[in-house]
Amino acid sequence: MSPRTHHATPDSAVEHIHDAFGTAEWWRTAVIYQVYPRSFADSDGDGNGDLGGIKNRLAYLHDLGVDAIWISPFYPSPQADGGYDVADYRDVDPMYGTLADADDLIATAHALGIRVIIDIVPNHTSDEHPWFQAALAAGPGSPERDRYWFVDSPGVPNNWPSEFGGPAWTQVADGEWYLHLFDRKQPDLNWENPEVREMFAGTLRFWLDRGVDGFRIDVAHHLVKAPGLLDFDADWDAYNRGALPTNAVPFADQDGVHDIYQQWRAILDSYPGERAMVAEAWVTPHDRLALYVRADEFQQAFNFDYMRATWDADALRAQIRTTLRNADSVGAPATWVLSNHDVIRHATRLVRADPTMAPWILKATEPRPDTGLGLRRARAATALMLALPGSSYLYQGEELGLREVIELPAEARTDPDFLRGGGHRLGRDGCRVPIPWKKDAPAFGFNDTGASWLPQPADFGDYAVDRQRGRDGSTLELYRSLLAVRRQRQLGNGSLALVDLRADVVALDVTNDRGTTRIVLNLGSEPWPIPASARVLVASADGVTDLLPADCAVWLTD
Ligand code: GLC
Ligand code: MG
Repeated sequence: MSPRTHHATPDSAVEHIHDAFGTAEWWRTAVIYQVYPRSFADSDGDGNGDLGGIKNRLAYLHDLGVDAIWISPFYPSPQADGGYDVADYRDVDPMYGTLADADDLIATAHALGIRVIIDIVPNHTSDEHPWFQAALAAGPGSPERDRYWFVDSPGVPNNWPSEFGGPAWTQVADGEWYLHLFDRKQPDLNWENPEVREMFAGTLRFWLDRGVDGFRIDVAHHLVKAPGLLDFDADWDAYNRGALPTNAVPFADQDGVHDIYQQWRAILDSYPGERAMVAEAWVTPHDRLALYVRADEFQQAFNFDYMRATWDADALRAQIRTTLRNADSVGAPATWVLSNHDVIRHATRLVRADPTMAPWILKATEPRPDTGLGLRRARAATALMLALPGSSYLYQGEELGLREVIELPAEARTDPDFLRGGGHRLGRDGCRVPIPWKKDAPAFGFNDTGASWLPQPADFGDYAVDRQRGRDGSTLELYRSLLAVRRQRQLGNGSLALVDLRADVVALDVTNDRGTTRIVLNLGSEPWPIPASARVLVASADGVTDLLPADCAVWLTD
C-alpha cells in the first residue's frame, strides 16, 4: 500500500494512492441517503414530515439508486434542537408516528434492498427526559444528578461556550449549575456513570432487535470531558475552521471516548448481519479521525475535512490523499460527504464569499451567492465524490440541486443556533426546508394540505421531483446516472490513482475488474480537451463531448 509513482500513459504522471479492499461488507462502499424526517414527506398533512411519508417515498429512493438511508432522530422530543434533544430513546414521537410505523418502515425498506441506519444522541438528553426531571427533583448530591454534570459553584463553573452561543452552563432553582455543550434544553450526560452506559447499551440492543442495520452516532467526540472541568481559552474561530487539534479542548476528542465505542462495537458484532456505526466526530487533524475507525470501533466516520475543502484542485487532491492514507492505515473505508442537515447546502456553500468559514455557520451578513454557478459546481463536486472509493453520504434534496434558503424570515426560524446566537448567525433551518415533490401541488407535494413547518420559497417548485424525473440533464437524472454507473463499474471498491493532467484539473483513475474509469473535474477557467479516444460515461453538465468546461466533471472510459 505504499504510494508509488509510475507512468501509465506517456503524457501524464500517475500517483497511486489506494488499493481496492479485499473484503466486501456493505458499509465499505454504500451510498447512504440522509433523511431529515420532519422535512422529507408528510403523510398526514400536519406540516411535519413523518415515518409514513418516508415509507411512501422508499420507491423513489430505490429508483434513485441508494444503498441505505440514515434517518435523523424521530424520537419523542420537544424539538428544541430539531429532535437532537431526545426525551425517550426507545419510542417514536407522535408527530412522526408510532413504533409500529418504525417497524413497518424498516421492513419495507429491507424488502426493497435498502438498509436503515438510525441516529443515536448519547452526549445529552432533552431536559424533558425523565432522568433530567428526576435529577431536578432529587436535588444536589443525589444519584439522579450524577447522571449529568451538576456543579455547585458561586458563579458560572467555567468558561466553556455552548456551541449555539452563550455559556455552556445553566443554573437551576437550588443554585447548582448543569453543563450543556449545546442548548440549555440539552443537558450533557455524565459518561463516567455506569447507568448512562447501561442505558445506551440497552438502547442499541432495542433497535438492533427491531432490525436496524446501524447507527449514526451524534457528536461522538464530546461524550468524555477532561477531569476538573477547567477553564480553557481557545481561538474558537480557528477551532470551528478545523485549524486546531481538537483533543486539546477539554470537552472534545478525549481518549476516553474510545472505550465506549469498543463496547458498542462488541454489541453490534454480537448480532447477525453486518451492523455498522458511523461517527459524527468533528475532529482535526485527520489522523485523529482514524482513531475512531480502528478495527474494534466505528466502521465509518464522516469526513468533514473533505466537506470543508475549498473549490481548489490542490485542496481537493490533498484531502483525497490524506483521507485515503488515514483510512487505509486502519483498514477502514474512506467516507465522503458534501451536505447534511447542519451545513449550508453545497449548491450554495461552494460559491460563498468566504469558503474557509465553518460550513455550519451562516452569518446574517452573508451575501446571497450565485445560484447558477453554485448548482454547476455542486453537480461537479458530486460527480467527483461519487467516483471515490469508499462510502458516500447524500443529504435529502441535494439530488434535486436544492439551494440553501438564506432568506427565511426570522419569525420562521427555529434553530437554537439562531435563537441563541443574538441574530449574528442565521442557523441551519435553511437546509431543512421541506422537499418539493410536485411543482403544481400544495406545499409542492410535501403533503396534500399545503401546511409546512418551514416556509418553502416560490422557486422550490422548479426543483420539484416531477419537473426533473425523466428530463435529460436534470440534476435528479444526473444523480441517477452517477449512481447507476457507480454500481455497474463498482467504483466504491477500486484502486485509486491521481493523474497529473493540469494543475487546475483534478483527475483520477479508479481501477478494478470492471476496468478503469477516469474522473476529471475542471476547477480552472479554461476548458480541458477530452481525448478523442475517450468515451463519456456521465458528465455533470449538458453537451460535454470534446471539451470539459470550467466547474464541470466527467467520467470517462476507453
Ligand atoms: C449534531 C447534530 C446537530 C445537533 C448537535 C447536537 O451535530 O447533527 O444537528 O444540533 O449534534 O445534538
Ligand atoms: Mg406529518
